[in-house]
Amino acid sequence: MTGRVTLIVRPGQVASPRVRTVLFVGAGRHQRRAILRAKQLGLRVVAVDRNADAPGLAHADEGEVVDFVEVEQVIDVARRHGIDGVLTVSADRAVPVVAAVAEELGLPGIGTQTAHLMTHKVAMRRRLAEGGVPQPRFAAVRARREAGPAGETVGFPAVLKPADSGGQRGVFRVESLDDVDAHLHEALAASPTGEAILEEFVDGIEMNGIVIARNGETIPLTLSDRLRPPGIGFGVGWIHVYPATIYGVQLEEAERTAAQTVSALGLKTGIAFPQLIAARDGRVVVVECAARIPGGQMADLVRHAVGVDLVEVQLHIALGDELPEELVLPRFSQPLAIRFLTAQPGPLPVGLVTRIGPLDKLLAFPGVVQADVYLQVGETIRPVRLDGDRRGYVIAVAPTNLEALERAEAAARLLDVEVE
Ligand SMILES: Nc1ncnc2c1ncn2[C@@H]1O[C@H](COP(=O)(O)OP(=O)(O)O)[C@@H](O)[C@H]1O
Ligand SMILES: [Mg+2]
Repeated sequence: MTGRVTLIVRPGQVASPRVRTVLFVGAGRHQRRAILRAKQLGLRVVAVDRNADAPGLAHADEGEVVDFVEVEQVIDVARRHGIDGVLTVSADRAVPVVAAVAEELGLPGIGTQTAHLMTHKVAMRRRLAEGGVPQPRFAAVRARREAGPAGETVGFPAVLKPADSGGQRGVFRVESLDDVDAHLHEALAASPTGEAILEEFVDGIEMNGIVIARNGETIPLTLSDRLRPPGIGFGVGWIHVYPATIYGVQLEEAERTAAQTVSALGLKTGIAFPQLIAARDGRVVVVECAARIPGGQMADLVRHAVGVDLVEVQLHIALGDELPEELVLPRFSQPLAIRFLTAQPGPLPVGLVTRIGPLDKLLAFPGVVQADVYLQVGETIRPVRLDGDRRGYVIAVAPTNLEALERAEAAARLLDVEVE
C-alpha cells in the first residue's frame, strides 16, 4: 500500500458531507483489498457476491448475497442504495454486468458494446481484424463439424479455447484435428455461450500490458514479460518480469500494438489489460485484452514498478472524476520480478501438504517487497495447469529486471513446505 491517502471529491468541489457510494460487483479475495481501499478513501461501499462467505462482503458497508449473473438483481441493488459508481476488480465475468448496471443507471461506464468486445474472444478478434491490429489467424468453433474448416484456416499447432472464459480454463495447445476433437467438449463446456475459438499457436515471449485510457487518449503504464512453464500449464503466468526484455523496434511495435488494441476495442476511459506475444520472427500479436484491473498480482506489479494505484484510478473512473496526471502517470520505473509459488519445476513440491513454514525468511531476503502464501495444510499441490494452481507469490525489486528475477527465484525457494 502506498501511504498516499486522498479524499475522493469531484474537481472544484470541497469535501462535502455527502458521502459517495460505490457498488462492487463481486467481493472475492481480489476485491477485498479494493473494498478496504475504497473505504479508506472515504467512500461508502455496497458489494454483491453469490457466496455469503465471500471475504469482501464482511468489509462492505452493505453486503448482499446476489449472483451477479442475474443482472436485473444487481440493478435492483444499485437502485436501492442510490449508488454513484459501479466497478469490479479482476473478475472478467463481472465486466459486462458492471457495464450494464452503469448504462441502466446513467453512471460512468465502458458501455455494453465495448464490454462484450473485451470479454468475448471471437467478437474481439473480428473487431481487431477490422482495426488492422496484428493477431494470430483464428476461426470460431461452435460444433464438431466446424472443427475441420477451422483447422484448415488456422493450421497447426494451434490453441483451442473457450470464447468467453478466463484463468486458462479449457485452454489447450493442439497439434492436430484429433487433438481438437479430444478437447472441444471441454473448451465448449467452459464457455457460457457454448462457443470456442481456434487460433494459430504463436511461439515467443508473452507480455502483459497495462494501459489507462482517459477520454480517448491511451497512457501506457507497464509492459512486462509473463513467463510460462513448459507442458500442460503452458498458458499459466508463473513469473512476471518488469520491464519487458524485448527492445528496439520490437518494443516500439509492442507499445504501439497495445495502444491500438485499446482504441480498436472502443475503450474511451478505463483500465485496459492487453496481452501480447513478441514472436520469434519479429511480429507482435495480441492474445487478448481485458477492460479491468487484472488479477494475479498485476496491480501490485504496477504499484511497485511505476507507483500508480490502479484501484484508486478505477474508483475515480467509476465515479466519473477527472483523472489528474499525478494519479495516472508513471512516477518512477523500478525493475522487479514476481515469482508465483507453483509446483515443480516451480519452487513447491507435489503432494499432500503436511506443514507450511513461515514467510519470515522470504520477506527478509534482499529486495523482497511483498510475499504471500495461500496454501493450507491438508490440500494437495498438483502440477501447474491453471491460474488457480498458483499458491502464493514473492515480489522482489533490484537495479535490473534480471537481478530482480534471481532474487525472487531465490526467495521463493526459502519457503519450507512438507508433503507426503
Ligand atoms: N494464439 C496463441 N498462441 C500462443 N499462446 C497462446 C495463444 N492463445 C493463448 N495462449 C496462451 O494461453 C494463455 C491463455 O489464453 P487467453 O486467451 O489469455 O485466455 P484466458 O482468458 O484464459 O486468459 C495465454 O496467456 C497464452 O499464454
Ligand atoms: Mg488471458
